[in-house]
Amino acid sequence: MTRIGYIVGSLAPDSINRKLARVIADQAPQRAEMVEISIAELPLYDRHLDADFPSVMTEFKEQVAAVDGLLLVTPEHNQSFPAPVKNAIDILSRGGSSELAGLKLGITGASPGRFGTINSQSQLRQCLPPLGVKLMGSPVLAESVREGTFHDDGTATESTTKRAKDYIEAFTTFVES
Ligand SMILES: Cc1cc2nc3c(=O)[nH]c(=O)nc-3n(C[C@H](O)[C@H](O)[C@H](O)COP(=O)(O)O)c2cc1C
Repeated sequence: MTRIGYIVGSLAPDSINRKLARVIADQAPQRAEMVEISIAELPLYDRHLDADFPSVMTEFKEQVAAVDGLLLVTPEHNQSFPAPVKNAIDILSRGGSSELAGLKLGITGASPGRFGTINSQSQLRQCLPPLGVKLMGSPVLAESVREGTFHDDGTATESTTKRAKDYIEAFTTFVES
């Protein structure tokens, strides 16, 4: 079984990125186990914490270390990725070990904007490779969400569901390779 962790980059209870993450998880192939890794409780990182990382941070790092691949499902805030995602990246890169080195990573996201989360994703594609992650290049999943994209029962439109299925199939293969 391939263990794939996923991080939802939004803390909003009605997050469209959480809805997208759920559709992706539902569409994962049977050989993949999808586990959410929450960033909601992480305190803000600062370098004075390096000497003695709070347990909530070390537990988060251990959760990431335990998966075979990590998927970011993140909004776009002001043409970039949101602060909680940056905070999570900083925490993973510090505290005596970096779980990012060699980590197989995928980036996805949803926004009501015309271009989905393409700016957020391109900035992540810029900052993550120097930290040693192995980034999946394609396919790209940047969902431009409309009214009716997601349904109350957690499903999505046929087209969004197909893109999510194609993406998670490709990412699982990438993680296994
Ligand atoms: C501070 C802030 C900045 C935003 N900036 C962008 C942006 O640059 N591009 C975009 O497509 N959407 C932007 N949005 C709209 C978000 O895409 C929208 O709120 C979306 O629902 C966020 O995802 P979530 O529902 O998972 O939290 C912004 C929203 C907030 C709160």
